[in-house]
Amino acid sequence: PRPLLVDCDTGIDDAVALLYLCRTPGVDLRAVTTVAGNTTAERAARNTLQVLETAGRTDIPVAAGAATTLRGDTHPEAGFVHGDGGLGGVALPEPTAAPDPGTAVELLLRTARETEAGIDILATAPLTNLALALRAEPRLPEWVGRLTIMGGAVHHPGNISPLAEANIGHDPEAAAAVLAAGWRDLTLVPLDVTMRENLTEAHRQRLLACGNPVGRLAGEILDFYFTFHEETALPFRGSACHDPLAAGIAVGEVTPRAAPRLPVTVDTADGAARGALVADTRGIHRGYPAQPGANAAVVLETDGTFPELLVDRLCRIRK
Ligand code: BDR
Ligand code: CA
Repeated sequence: PRPLLVDCDTGIDDAVALLYLCRTPGVDLRAVTTVAGNTTAERAARNTLQVLETAGRTDIPVAAGAATTLRGDTHPEAGFVHGDGGLGGVALPEPTAAPDPGTAVELLLRTARETEAGIDILATAPLTNLALALRAEPRLPEWVGRLTIMGGAVHHPGNISPLAEANIGHDPEAAAAVLAAGWRDLTLVPLDVTMRENLTEAHRQRLLACGNPVGRLAGEILDFYFTFHEETALPFRGSACHDPLAAGIAVGEVTPRAAPRLPVTVDTADGAARGALVADTRGIHRGYPAQPGANAAVVLETDGTFPELLVDRLCRIRK
């Protein structure tokens, strides 16, 4: 498999995705860059270092990136979703590794440039870093094998506004630029599927009891996330599987049941639809033909079994 870079805003589900990637045989996680989203970019970098250290991976460079959106807005931290500090209020030891001295864009471009066979990128956060990297280096799409983005809502409602999902909606200009950049292989993993792959309290209890520090950390931080979901979005105690599902798709462990190639853009106008993903799904009922002008595969159906695989993976003692 190609080396992988993750651009994220760690964040409870980003943390679980990172733990999953660290525990998955064959995954070559090369670098992590962070951006403001669930928490600040700096805090997300610190959280990432702590999460990677729990998985024994202090060797992976982590760089903090954009603190504001492309047009200079700051968005509020999502403490009500991810807890104080972004990891569900769980206190972890001071990380022993320091963040990379460079910026996220520098680390991303350096990693992409140095990796001769090309890298894959998984983005699980607002797309500001990627948009800035494209501005600095328009050849970036040539160096990337597959770009997988957790973001958007196609037929599903949004989660930060009626139509907008957080990763697209928190920096619509960045998302629009990234989607239009001409990637070789772009896959979008929207709420339509991530809201339907659900972790449950039974999963969490298994994680807490499994005896693997990686599983236990996931179980601990998910407590807060479950409460948020139970109070707002799900009719039971559990959670969506946003970033971990995108990770499973990025590394090829999850094969979507339906991922039609569609033209996708982002609404950047100021108004009720700002930040909405606009995917042209007309005609997909005729058997998912590629639409003219398609620029992304949009995952619209998965089989619901990923949480089980995820928990098994996080609990397993041997890799
Ligand atoms: C996305 O927003 C963040 O809160 C999550 O980490 C995920 O990446 C879901 O809309
Ligand atoms: Ca995220």
